[in-house]
Amino acid sequence: MCGIVGYIGHRDAFPIVIKGLERLEYRGYDSAGIALFDGNDISLSKTKGKVEDLRSKAKEISQAGSLGIGHTRWATHGVPNDVNSHPHYSNSGDLVIIHNGIIENYESIKQALKDRGYTFQSDTDTEVLVNLIEEVQKTEDVKLGKAVQIALNQVVGAYAIAVFDKKKPDEIVVAKLGSPLAIGVGENEFFIASDASPFIEFTNNAVYLEDEEMAIIRLGKEIKLRKIKNDAIAYPNILELQMNLEEIEKGGYDHFMLKEIYEQPRAIMDTYRGRLLADQGIIRMAGIDQNIEKFVNANRIIIVACGTSWHAGLVAEYIFEDLARIPVEVEYASEFRYRNPVITDKDVLIAISQSGETADTLAAIKLAKEKGAFVFGVCNVVGSSIARESDAGAYTHAGPEIGVASTKAFTTQITVLTLIALKLAKEKGEFSQSKFHEYLSELETIPAKVEKSLLSNDLVETVAEVYKDSTNCLYLGRGYNFPVALEGALKLKEISYIHAEGYPAAEMKHGPIALIDEQMPVFVIATKKGHYEKVVSNIQEIKSRKGKIIAIVTEGDEQVKELADHVIEIPETLESLTPLLTTIPLQLLSYHIAVMRNCNVDQPRNLAKSVTVE
Ligand code: F6R
Repeated sequence: MCGIVGYIGHRDAFPIVIKGLERLEYRGYDSAGIALFDGNDISLSKTKGKVEDLRSKAKEISQAGSLGIGHTRWATHGVPNDVNSHPHYSNSGDLVIIHNGIIENYESIKQALKDRGYTFQSDTDTEVLVNLIEEVQKTEDVKLGKAVQIALNQVVGAYAIAVFDKKKPDEIVVAKLGSPLAIGVGENEFFIASDASPFIEFTNNAVYLEDEEMAIIRLGKEIKLRKIKNDAIAYPNILELQMNLEEIEKGGYDHFMLKEIYEQPRAIMDTYRGRLLADQGIIRMAGIDQNIEKFVNANRIIIVACGTSWHAGLVAEYIFEDLARIPVEVEYASEFRYRNPVITDKDVLIAISQSGETADTLAAIKLAKEKGAFVFGVCNVVGSSIARESDAGAYTHAGPEIGVASTKAFTTQITVLTLIALKLAKEKGEFSQSKFHEYLSELETIPAKVEKSLLSNDLVETVAEVYKDSTNCLYLGRGYNFPVALEGALKLKEISYIHAEGYPAAEMKHGPIALIDEQMPVFVIATKKGHYEKVVSNIQEIKSRKGKIIAIVTEGDEQVKELADHVIEIPETLESLTPLLTTIPLQLLSYHIAVMRNCNVDQPRNLAKSVTVE
């Protein structure tokens, strides 16, 4: 939540910071701001609204300066308005700060500063922090870096900050705890950002700050890293990034979400490439191979995640229990972390997260580690906090996911989790070599089958046209496809603002069936493999109450066609792999409905891609 960008070097900072903010807008988009420093004067512009609004508003200020910082906000403290937008000045006007995170004890600090004569323009915790830094500078007579360090030792909360001082035109100080911060290292220039996308066309070299680290970035000097708590020197680990510009642009699609839906065949293939060796009859995954005993001897696997990643976890529960016969519990990370769960060193905890930054999932990991569990991360963003915090892990290789609604992250998470379950099933002797081989070969066909499922796009668009004005929708599925029903409903509500609920099909008669009338569209996943006859009975129950039935069926299905108002076909596959296909038309459906309702598909209201606050 919130994106931060900074630049110091020999180029004009304005275009770099603005472009960087556009790339980070997925992290929050209720207001935006920029501050530029030309060595003499600071010019600052900020506004409620999006980065494009900032672009227009910033025409009123001088755009000169080769030092700049910018911010795109997802409000936590104080409503989205011009004043609460970042950057924030200190009272003297010398210090300027941007901040992603929350300072929890800001009220008491604010009161103490007020008692010493400080005044505040905004309702934000961030303005309190910059004034605390200023107060430390004054009272302790220290330079900016030291003042930041002392101030941060007084705050409780989470932050990624960048701050500069008018008296030090060649320096930016950054610090991180709980929110991500990357430094791009170029030729006598430095970039600062919440992720590497703002600077990828300038440099592939990046340093990711660890929690409780700060850096003094000074032109003409090496980056100086320190531990915030004890002042110990840390050494920057410069990583070479693999990301390229094409991956973070729309590539001819109207929206990132559509691009990402269509990328799924490639993303799934990239996820199993080098791991799934069907011809040799093996799955190779370093993170599992090196820890195989922990998995095989685990009392149980606990999966923690949020949102769509939690739905992937639910699919994984079916896969692990069904194929590998290992007991699994799937938990919302936000509940797990606060309910004093029973965890032992015989448990394996799998954390699933696209961004690798979700605050609740990160906290759940830390708790599990404290209790001795082995933690395995399934993340998409390389070098993210969850990836680093885990004992071992496997990346999904989906490539950057920029649309706020998760699509390719979901299918690639299921792919990774399927590979792990198959590997464990084989290791535990639950699978014969021939059965194992059958699964591996089928998994290899999935990208082509996803491609085929995408061919339903035109049909899905016509279905979307019929139901775009609905006020409620139900999604039903059973077994492996129950989590897909939940995911279908989540996709619809988050981007089209239509109320939708997912249910296990058989639960209908325990309450939700009361909602069914001729106005209610019911999306039913009714694939041949997976409780087919039972789902057909559920469809009959809806039909006799005049509900509208839109069914996702296996190609060639005749029985459901007789009952449903619309059928959308997907290719046949093994039952455990059906979620990888059934989810495709549901993603497309949400997309088209959102477009038809003029919703902002890639940046739905009130949401942010990376939820770094709890
Ligand atoms: C929904 C969506 C969210 C995320 C959730 C977890 O489309 O994107 O529900 O799945 O915020 O995020 P990650 O996977 O980054 O931990």
